[in-house]
Amino acid sequence: MSMRRGIITGTGSYLPEKVLTNDDLAKIVDTSDEWIRTRTGIRQRHVAAEGETTSDLATRAARAALEAAGRAPADIDALLVATTTPDFTFPATACVVQDKLGMPAGAMAFDLQAVCSGFIYGLSVADALIRSGQASRVLLIGAETLTRLLDWDDRSTCVLFGDGAGAVVLEAGEGEGTTADRGVLHTVAHAEGRHRVLLFTDGGPSSTGTVGRLRMQGREVFRHAVNRIAEAMEEVMNAAGVSAADIDLFVPHQANVRILDATARKLGIAPEKVMLTIADQGNTSAASIPLALDAAVRQGRAKAGDLLLLEAMGGGFTWGASLLRL
Ligand code: ACO
Repeated sequence: MSMRRGIITGTGSYLPEKVLTNDDLAKIVDTSDEWIRTRTGIRQRHVAAEGETTSDLATRAARAALEAAGRAPADIDALLVATTTPDFTFPATACVVQDKLGMPAGAMAFDLQAVCSGFIYGLSVADALIRSGQASRVLLIGAETLTRLLDWDDRSTCVLFGDGAGAVVLEAGEGEGTTADRGVLHTVAHAEGRHRVLLFTDGGPSSTGTVGRLRMQGREVFRHAVNRIAEAMEEVMNAAGVSAADIDLFVPHQANVRILDATARKLGIAPEKVMLTIADQGNTSAASIPLALDAAVRQGRAKAGDLLLLEAMGGGFTWGASLLRL
């Protein structure tokens, strides 16, 4: 049976120039390179320059993805930006990016807020737009300047996050409706709002009129993350009828190397099949999956025809997983 699928035809990413090492952080808060590396796997993170906004990072990643796909901005009919750190309360960062890319009027453009799960939620929406025929070429971006939400006096959170952006172009194609098809094969996305108090910002436009700062109960988040990520990965593999051994590369949200190790162990995934960028980038929230995916493609670790499994978990709580063939 013929089936319309959303196929990734190009990837791109961008990291701000400025790098903040663990030793740099040790000069700001009471921490050490050793503590951060052993607890999280992070060695350094990139930080946006003063005046450099989420839309700037997003636009650079988008240009690289468009170039890889051989497309011009005018070819896009839906532009989605997954972000928790928009330039403004409104307009949507997607509209700012649309303008910066010089896209003509026409494409729908909106932001999507699911914190660290934003890219998985975005894939779900992008694929649904393509399958329903509402869009044929989607530019999906995950972009964050999460360091702007950090409390630099709180050593338990300020060491974890970084800035960056990643983007993919998804284009409609026809498949047979099997897992041999190229494209997004299956996505699951979930939320549990009663745990929103474990990871949140203590401000917002309608509550305090401020942006707020990131607050987290790290140990609790860790416990939920391992369980929810493993569940979502199993759910998506079962739905598609594939097993962990069939996956060529896992491209997870990069939150903490210990979360990734625990999840991989739980599901019997070989460590060499896990794409890791966290050491150099930290947790870039909605940007981390497309950043890792672009690195995998450019390093030749993910090739056309490979079966990839993506997963994320974040504030909300939100979580999800996506199975796709490049
Ligand atoms: N440097 C030195 N010591 C620190 C630091 C630091 N940066 N941060 C905390 N500590 C101390 C604490 O004060 C505590 O000291 P105490 O025992 O004297 O009270 C000790 O280290 C242990 O603190 P815990 O919070 O229990 O440490 P834990 O082993 O749980 O590690 C961490 C903390 C890394 C935050 C971990 O809980 C974690 O990774 N949680 C998941 C959070 C996460 O990834 N969130 C991202 C968003 S959600 C997502 O993307 C999945």
